[in-house]
Amino acid sequence: MSVDSVAFRKTMSRFASGVTVVTARDAAGDPVGLTVSAFASLSLDPPMVLICLNKGCHDLAAFQTGPFVVNVLADDQESLSRRFAGPREARFVDLESDTAENGCPTFAGCLAVIECRTDQVVEGGDHDIVIGTVTALGAREDGLPLLYFGGRYRYLADDGRATT
Ligand SMILES: Cc1cc2nc3c(=O)[nH]c(=O)nc-3n(C[C@H](O)[C@H](O)[C@H](O)COP(=O)(O)O)c2cc1C
Repeated sequence: MSVDSVAFRKTMSRFASGVTVVTARDAAGDPVGLTVSAFASLSLDPPMVLICLNKGCHDLAAFQTGPFVVNVLADDQESLSRRFAGPREARFVDLESDTAENGCPTFAGCLAVIECRTDQVVEGGDHDIVIGTVTALGAREDGLPLLYFGGRYRYLADDGRATT
């Protein structure tokens, strides 16, 4: 059965995800980053995560080499997500950032900051799966996530319906 790409996109959009901005430094040492929802926890021992990057992504080489940081966005950081999915030249212009222990940019207010060294790069169709070993991390105790679902940004109602 052949799968139509529009149907594939539509079907996958029914899977809700969080939103991250992944950052690294290019060969010249300049900061690079892009918005990524294809992020997952991979291994507990050792702690590892993965991100999936389009092979056409301009700064792919920086992530293939690493190190990199995964900045998990909070629900008031939609503008950061839009910025890092927009024109590359403007991404770090007039933007306050901090520097993680591994030298990559981080942003105040993120729900979590996960520092990685690139361990492995696996080809997956038109994307590369970049696997990182976690070298440092930090997380806020409070705050709610920015979500992406059905091709739109979404927000948790936090209405207490979640049960344990
Ligand atoms: C909500 C959202 C999620 C995204 N997730 C991914 C992703 O997981 N992997 C990826 O390669 N691009 C993803 N993108 C697209 C990149 O952020 C965007 O295309 C960016 O321009 C990358 O290409 P460039 O750095 O070469 O411009 C996402 C965009 C948005 C708005």
